[in-house]
Amino acid sequence: MDGSLGRPNTSLFNERRAFVRDAILEGAPEAKNSVFARAFAECFVDRVAEALEDGAWTQFLTWVDATYRGHAESIPARALFTVAPKAVSDALDTIGTPADVLDTFRSVTQEIAVIAGGILNSDGAADIGILEEIDVALASVVGELRALDPLTADHAQAVSAWCGRVAERMGLTKPEATKVTRGGLVHDFGKTTIPREILTAARSLRDEEWDLMRQHVLAGERAISDTPSLRQFCSIVRSHHERFDGLGYPDGLESHRIPITVRIVSVADSFNAMIAHRPYRPAMNPAHALAELKRCKGSQFDPGVVDAMIDVVTAGRS
Ligand SMILES: [Fe+2]
Repeated sequence: MDGSLGRPNTSLFNERRAFVRDAILEGAPEAKNSVFARAFAECFVDRVAEALEDGAWTQFLTWVDATYRGHAESIPARALFTVAPKAVSDALDTIGTPADVLDTFRSVTQEIAVIAGGILNSDGAADIGILEEIDVALASVVGELRALDPLTADHAQAVSAWCGRVAERMGLTKPEATKVTRGGLVHDFGKTTIPREILTAARSLRDEEWDLMRQHVLAGERAISDTPSLRQFCSIVRSHHERFDGLGYPDGLESHRIPITVRIVSVADSFNAMIAHRPYRPAMNPAHALAELKRCKGSQFDPGVVDAMIDVVTAGRS
């Protein structure tokens, strides 16, 4: 879908951003006063504006998938997820958007409906009070990552989406799947402690810089342990660079001593890192990235998780 659009009048949409955000919030009165709702509406509209500008709707849908899955159990969030695409559609209609752009957004809306359908039809929306606290904390984590480096934040959101799909494929319980989806968002929070010039260096890192980079798992664990609603993710943050063969860090945990949530994040993290552009190398073809995962089955990665990841990626292409 990328790059297939005619040029919409993005300045008109930009002028209406505040109006569209308000329309989203007004459409979900039970949610409109929460910090999460305001952050969600702002982010949704900003990302539509970016996609209108550059045609990168696939990235927009990746963000939608991660966000919707990450907040699947929050009743206020569910209301927002339903009204947001319609509010944008209505706005695009009223500003004289070209027909090809409207058609594209209609197909994007249909894809959002598929994502939302899978989530909204699941039962058991849970306690709002506790989940709201997590929503706010997670929104803040992603905001901090984005302020540090947009690529790191995009990576976290994409990893979260992959984690949700792999967890579902492996038949994890709903609470475990939710935990691993959210864990994908926070796993690299420790990178907020790494100097930006190291994090975004367009060159190979020196040994002492790698040593510092490896510290992000412990720094991240320390940082999130201060927030009660995020403490449940400490093992994911601390252990996502452990390896199935015990040669990872920081503890050299082996095999099934690494929790399944962590083993899933580890595979999703590595796969998404390979297929993403980095300042020091181009993106790898997904088929090559899957071959690399296969090569590392049983050494770096849990074989069962790799199989599930391959199924998820392959199904997404067919
Ligand atoms: Fe990491």
